[in-house]
Amino acid sequence: MKSLLITFFVLTLFTFADGPFKNLHVLEIDNKDDMKSFMKSISRDLGVKCIYCHDIDDKSIDTKKKKIARHMMKMIKEQNETYFSWKNAPQITCWTCHRGATEVETIRPKK
Ligand code: HEC
Ligand code: HEC
Repeated sequence: MKSLLITFFVLTLFTFADGPFKNLHVLEIDNKDDMKSFMKSISRDLGVKCIYCHDIDDKSIDTKKKKIARHMMKMIKEQNETYFSWKNAPQITCWTCHRGATEVETIRPKK
């Protein structure tokens, strides 16, 4: 009985360890199609291609830009969960600030 339980425990561990992604700290996405459409969407929000943030051979590797992007994802998640949490609330996205560019206008342009 005890060994059966241990076997179950180990199997469960393997099931979870065997998800499609290796290095997620913020996103709660567990299938490839959803990941692809989310990543395409943030790429458009910043006006870049995958390679701007990723090592194309192994997307789980962290790059400098990827770390910044992760920081931003965390910020948005907290804002949405904390301040835009009412029913059908609009959600902040990368587009909200980036508008198709990597650089964000933080100061109103002089007319
Ligand atoms: C602006 C930066 C950025 C761009 C552009 C981007 N990604 Fe990502 N990507 C990330 C970050 C950040 C993570 C990790 C998120 C986390 O830690 O939860 C990630 C994670 C991933 C993962 C999971 C890797 C793993 O195993 O951990 C895949 C697959 C991926 N991206 C694919 C893509 C594809 C395909 C594109 C282009 C269509 C793309 N990404 C464009 C920032 C980016
Ligand atoms: C609240 C506004 C805001 C939101 C929302 C936001 N960003 Fe940013 N982001 C900034 C600011 C401000 C900078 C600094 C821009 C600069 O240095 O010119 C920045 C910089 C970046 C950079 C570095 C760009 C560079 O020049 O190297 C990346 C990458 C990035 N953001 C990714 C993201 C991603 C991905 C999202 C969505 C998950 C996101 N940001 C959402 C405000 C925002």
